[in-house]
Amino acid sequence: MEQFDFRRMSIYQIWVRSFCDGNGDGIGDLYGVYDKLDYIASLGVDAIWFSPIYPSPNADFGYDVADYKDIHPDYGTLEQFQKVLHRAHELGLKVILDLVINHTSDQHPWFLESRKGRDNPYSDYYIWRDPILKRRGKKHKLPNNWSSQFAGPAWAFDAQRGQYYLHLFSKNQPDLNMDNPRVREEIRAVMRFWLDMGVDGFREDVITYISKHRDLPNGLPWLPVINGMPYYKDGPNIMRFLGEYRAVAREYGAVQIGEAPMTNVKSALRYVSGEDRVLDMLIEFDHMMADCFLTEYLHHAFSLRKLKRAFSRWQYGLAGQGWNALYLENHDHPRVISRYGSLRFWRESGTALAAAYLFQQGCPFVYQGQEIGMTNIKLHSIEQYLDVASKNLYAMFHKRESQEKRMQRIHVSSRDSARTPVQWSDAPNAGFTTAAEPWFYVNQNYPEINVAREEDDPDSILNFYRRALALRKGSDTLLFGDYREFFPRSASLYMYERTWRGERVLVVVSFWHFNQRWRLPEAHFPQGAELLLSNYPDAAMGTLRPYEAQVWRWRAR
Ligand code: GLC
Ligand code: CA
Repeated sequence: MEQFDFRRMSIYQIWVRSFCDGNGDGIGDLYGVYDKLDYIASLGVDAIWFSPIYPSPNADFGYDVADYKDIHPDYGTLEQFQKVLHRAHELGLKVILDLVINHTSDQHPWFLESRKGRDNPYSDYYIWRDPILKRRGKKHKLPNNWSSQFAGPAWAFDAQRGQYYLHLFSKNQPDLNMDNPRVREEIRAVMRFWLDMGVDGFREDVITYISKHRDLPNGLPWLPVINGMPYYKDGPNIMRFLGEYRAVAREYGAVQIGEAPMTNVKSALRYVSGEDRVLDMLIEFDHMMADCFLTEYLHHAFSLRKLKRAFSRWQYGLAGQGWNALYLENHDHPRVISRYGSLRFWRESGTALAAAYLFQQGCPFVYQGQEIGMTNIKLHSIEQYLDVASKNLYAMFHKRESQEKRMQRIHVSSRDSARTPVQWSDAPNAGFTTAAEPWFYVNQNYPEINVAREEDDPDSILNFYRRALALRKGSDTLLFGDYREFFPRSASLYMYERTWRGERVLVVVSFWHFNQRWRLPEAHFPQGAELLLSNYPDAAMGTLRPYEAQVWRWRAR
């Protein structure tokens, strides 16, 4: 089947547990989603991506799947999912599911079988290795020195089977052995299960990790967290495996968006360019490191230049060859206003950040709550946090840093900041649930930051997102135009233009707490330009107030 033109899409991401509780048990669910579909459509997006909604023990909140072909009972039933799917389609919204196939839950029946021994049909579904025997001292050693991405070793010993299994993430997420053709057949059946139901595509979790180097060689011993990466990222059989999955997606005209941590433009192009590409877009991480090193836990001051370098590297790098996935937030990153914006200029910086990324070339993703400017939460003790990555990092640094210092790191870095309930109104618990206790802490700023309040305010962040998404959708220049950055060295200003068939759109965004002026070289100066959008009630070309964003259009002379 022919693929739809995915390039026009903008996508709203739902992390359902915190989106909206429809049946009053304190946990977000597909009943709540159903009730909010009109709201989602009203944003002007074209698709919904659901973070995993499958049965899961929630060691990593759904990214540890225990059954690929069902719905988590907390979220509803298959029937309820079909209702959501059907209604979403009626509203013109595509539905994209998370496909988590690098690993399963350790409670997945395949793993439960695989543990039992070396001679059952599932024994080779995972990556098992014998312990390396040591002469004296400890009984045995890990099969290699790889670290898990959630800190600690990437191997766990299973006493039942007497072997170690590989887990690149938490120990409850054993990696599947993708070299086993039966595993790949299972995955294809999973894809067909959802595609037959009418799902429009997949966001494919850490998909560039699924092919491991057969010998699993040791990585650099001094490199924490990512030392095994050269042997599992973009691995030897990755193109073949993805080609097989692509063939299934093609039958249905489905879209495929891959997540690719630590990638670069060159590797990305292998996947996303050309007619025979194996993925349509890649979710890369470069621009999420403008205030940190490798992970948000290793925080440093925000650098606009670092952000712009990352933006432009991908805009120029994929130009004419591939299509970008544009995002500032998702369930893995703290809230962007708290990171790259300013709480003092909350509304201005929230809208400025929107303008900074929504008009680049690519498909924009908006994460639940981002469109109303939700901010990070600050809990007192590590026990209150639930995210396995936060907890492991906190523990890993215990010898090196004080408790206070580590809590500061958690406050700026925890993925839990993106996982607090969506703030719908100023009703108790932000209108997220009618239960007395929601499953997780509500950010106490909900009386000021909530959907209902922003609905009524024409200048709100919410309504800015609506205007911006509508503008993008209605403009071929913003959809398809070439990207060009001005003043790349400025530490206070981000400016880029998009050009298409003689039309130019200029996006000017201040990242500064004070007023500033700007001037373009004569040849680019937008004579007679029309203001398309701004986040202040008026706008003058050449001057910017704190976090002011302006979008101008004109025709080239
Ligand atoms: C991806 C997901 C993240 C998860 C990890 C392991 O990065 O987005 O939430 O923890 O993969 O599945
Ligand atoms: Ca519920």
